[in-house]
Amino acid sequence: MIGIFDSGVGGLTVVKEILRYLPDYQIIYFGDSARLPYGTRSASFVKKYSEKITDWLLCRNAKIIIVACNTASSLAADFLKNKFKGVPVFEMINPAITEALATTKNKKIGIIGTRGTIKSNLYQQKFLKADPSLQIFSQPCPLLVPLVEEGMLDDKVTIEMLKTYLQPLKKEGIDTLVLACTHYPLLKKMIEDIIDFDVKVINPAEILAKQVKTYLEENPFLVKKMKKGSQHKFFFSDEPYNIEKISQLCFNKKINFIVKNPFDG
Ligand code: DGL
Repeated sequence: MIGIFDSGVGGLTVVKEILRYLPDYQIIYFGDSARLPYGTRSASFVKKYSEKITDWLLCRNAKIIIVACNTASSLAADFLKNKFKGVPVFEMINPAITEALATTKNKKIGIIGTRGTIKSNLYQQKFLKADPSLQIFSQPCPLLVPLVEEGMLDDKVTIEMLKTYLQPLKKEGIDTLVLACTHYPLLKKMIEDIIDFDVKVINPAEILAKQVKTYLEENPFLVKKMKKGSQHKFFFSDEPYNIEKISQLCFNKKINFIVKNPFDG
């Protein structure tokens, strides 16, 4: 199985891309809705629960781990790769960096994400390590996650917030924008409408899904294909908020899920 985790429902946007590129594989998903948002948590907290969740997924037969949460990717993925040596751990940052480097022409790249992701400075460091002549402009957008979770996708409040958040990046003349948060792909169309038309907007989940596909083609015995009649498994550590709306947006249908909090007590 492919193990995927996130702080909650947002990681379903990553599941969507994985299912698009890898429809033959079974997914086990864990959304840590009991402890979200991760975006405002400390690095030690995010590391602690990312480790517990990874361990839990591996015990349930996950053969590879995808850290769908951008905040956990920023704060915990390197730690997980070190801790679970031998387990392929994929995260959201490296795919986005590769794609943005291949895309930008004027070397001005924007990043939007949670406070945790932006504060970690990891994107900035990795971009500048790859090419010191880049100019990176980061913008935390803390109000977008609750607006998406409320299902207020094309609400005027969301449009105003997007304008406010994107204006400074527009002013800097970026030509590439990374959506460094699970929820933002659901706003991609609106973001493209608000930011200049010639800015390329990158959804890291899509790039990641292509990379995982290549990896599984190169390692064909690592993850068994899904048996006929098997179902994907979705677990949440608490009743997930507005899951009906988010799963409709991602999969055009409701999903079955189990509420289980294995880390309490
Ligand atoms: N999943 C988080 C991320 O991609 C957003 C929600 C949260 O803050 O927990 O950064």
